[in-house]
Amino acid sequence: MYNPILSVSNLSVSYQNENKKLHVLKNINFQSKEGEFISIIGPSSCGKTTLLKSIAKLIDPCFGQINTNGKLTLVFQDYSKSLFQWKTVRQNIEFGFERNGKTGNFQKLINLVGLKGFENYHPYQLSGGMQQRVAIARAIAYDPQIILMDEPFGSLDSQTRLRLEDELLRIWGRLNKTILFVTHDVEEAIYLADRVIVLSSKPAKIVSDVRINLARPRNQIGTKKSKEYIRLWDKIYKFLQ
Ligand SMILES: Nc1ncnc2c1ncn2[C@@H]1O[C@H](COP(=O)(O)OP(=O)(O)OP(=O)(O)O)[C@@H](O)[C@H]1O
Ligand SMILES: [Mg+2]
Repeated sequence: MYNPILSVSNLSVSYQNENKKLHVLKNINFQSKEGEFISIIGPSSCGKTTLLKSIAKLIDPCFGQINTNGKLTLVFQDYSKSLFQWKTVRQNIEFGFERNGKTGNFQKLINLVGLKGFENYHPYQLSGGMQQRVAIARAIAYDPQIILMDEPFGSLDSQTRLRLEDELLRIWGRLNKTILFVTHDVEEAIYLADRVIVLSSKPAKIVSDVRINLARPRNQIGTKKSKEYIRLWDKIYKFLQ
């Protein structure tokens, strides 16, 4: 057995809407080891965001326990809301260092996310993909052990999305971070992850926890043509039905 960096045990969450109770997560159990990349996939409104918010301690579970062995941070789908619009790229990223209470190597980070030359731009002067790279850089600047990503590429065009998937894998390969990546896209879930956790519709339970043994480094063309990828795609797609 390994020492998990994250452990979710018997997690159940309900929301109280006026006089109706909505049961969203039902007895969720999983653990993650350090450096693992886990995709979480499930039908629309099944409770994926609720799961990440519970792990980030933004909501109190009704039942169960979450243990994290280190700091974590969240990256949202809506980068236009999560970035500080009045701050430059540099200031947004430096906020991550400040939150960490340490100085960090800004130049190294700006190079890592490919935004050299854009340090003094404001978010509105950048494309969606560039803004999401700022959000990723800010998350890394905080130096968390766990990064929770909630459909971070969901509002990008498909080409930008594929490029950012590859950039995220490259960045993840250099840092030893655990990533929990929520997506509703089967291809994206498999392409990125070591494991794909499949949720059912509400109240969401884990219907499958699939190990992804595709060789790394991955590439959009070769990996997605492989027999094993196609087998995994079929398997996960069926679980989602
Ligand atoms: N703060 C809240 N109060 C009451 N109900 C909520 C709250 N947040 C979410 N819900 C409800 O809980 C359910 C799950 O929402 P959640 O956002 O976790 O789903 P999701 O899987 O992330 O959805 P999507 O695929 O649209 O991102 C939804 O039915 C939603 O209406
Ligand atoms: Mg969501």
